[in-house]
Amino acid sequence: MKKNSVNHITLAYERLGGGKPLMLIHGFPLEHVIWNDVVPLLQQDFDLILPDLRGFGQSTTTEDPHTLTDMADDLAGLLDALKIEQATLAGHSMGGYVALAFAKKYPQRVSGLALVASQAAADTSERKAGRYQTAAAVSEKGVGIVAEAMTPNLSSNQRVQEFVRPLMQRQTPPAVIGALKAMAEREDLLAYLATAAFPVTLIHGSADALIPIERAKEIKAALPSAQWFEIKNAGHMPMLEFPAETASGLRRLG
Ligand code: MLT
Repeated sequence: MKKNSVNHITLAYERLGGGKPLMLIHGFPLEHVIWNDVVPLLQQDFDLILPDLRGFGQSTTTEDPHTLTDMADDLAGLLDALKIEQATLAGHSMGGYVALAFAKKYPQRVSGLALVASQAAADTSERKAGRYQTAAAVSEKGVGIVAEAMTPNLSSNQRVQEFVRPLMQRQTPPAVIGALKAMAEREDLLAYLATAAFPVTLIHGSADALIPIERAKEIKAALPSAQWFEIKNAGHMPMLEFPAETASGLRRLG
C-alpha cells in the first residue's frame, strides 16, 4: 500500500483507476479491502482512493482519544498530499459517519456523498453506553469478541461472513477502542445533511440488521433530492453481497 504522514499518524491507502476522484471509506472494524469487488467495476471511470482509516489495516493511530472529525482531517490531509481539491466520498457505515464529518467541516471539497449502509443520526444513550462497555471488554479480552458478535449481523451470506470475520479479528485494540469512542461521541448530522449543496446518494440493503433501512429513509425524508438505491436482500455489506448493484449506485454520483 502507499503511505502518507498526516496528523501524527501514517495513513495507508490504495489508489487505482483514473477519472473523477472517488474516495471509498470502509466501516468498522474493517479495512479498505471490503471494496475489492467494486473496484474493478469502477476503476475505468474513477480515480479511486481507498484509505485504511486511522488504526485500521496498515494505518497507525496514536494513544490519544480521537473524534470522527480527526478521522475526517486525516482524509483531508491525504487529499492535500494527492493535490486533489474536491472529491466524491462514499462511506460505508462508520465510513459514512467520517464522510459526513468531512462534509460538515470541508463542504467545498465534496462533489458528492454516498452513504452506504450508514446513517446521519447520533447514537441513542443506550447504544452509546453499549459502545463504552464494548470498548472496556475489548481492552480486557481482545478484538475477537467484537468479531464474533458482529459477524452474523453484517451478513447472512456465509462467504461474506468468512471474509469479514478474519478481517475484524486482525484489527488492533487501540483502533477498535478509539473508533468505538469516536462513534459514541458523534453528533447528529441529519439537520446538517438536509441542507447539503452537493448530490447525496443513499445505498442501503433492505435486510441490513445493523443499521436498519429506516435510518436511510429518515435521510430521504429530510432530503428528498437524495438518490435512493435500495438493494433487495442485501445486509450490512452490500459491496460484498451485491457488488454490481452497489457499483451502479456509486456510479450515479459520477
Ligand atoms: C460499522 O459497520 O461501521 C459500524 O458497526 C457502525 C456502527 O456501529 O454504528
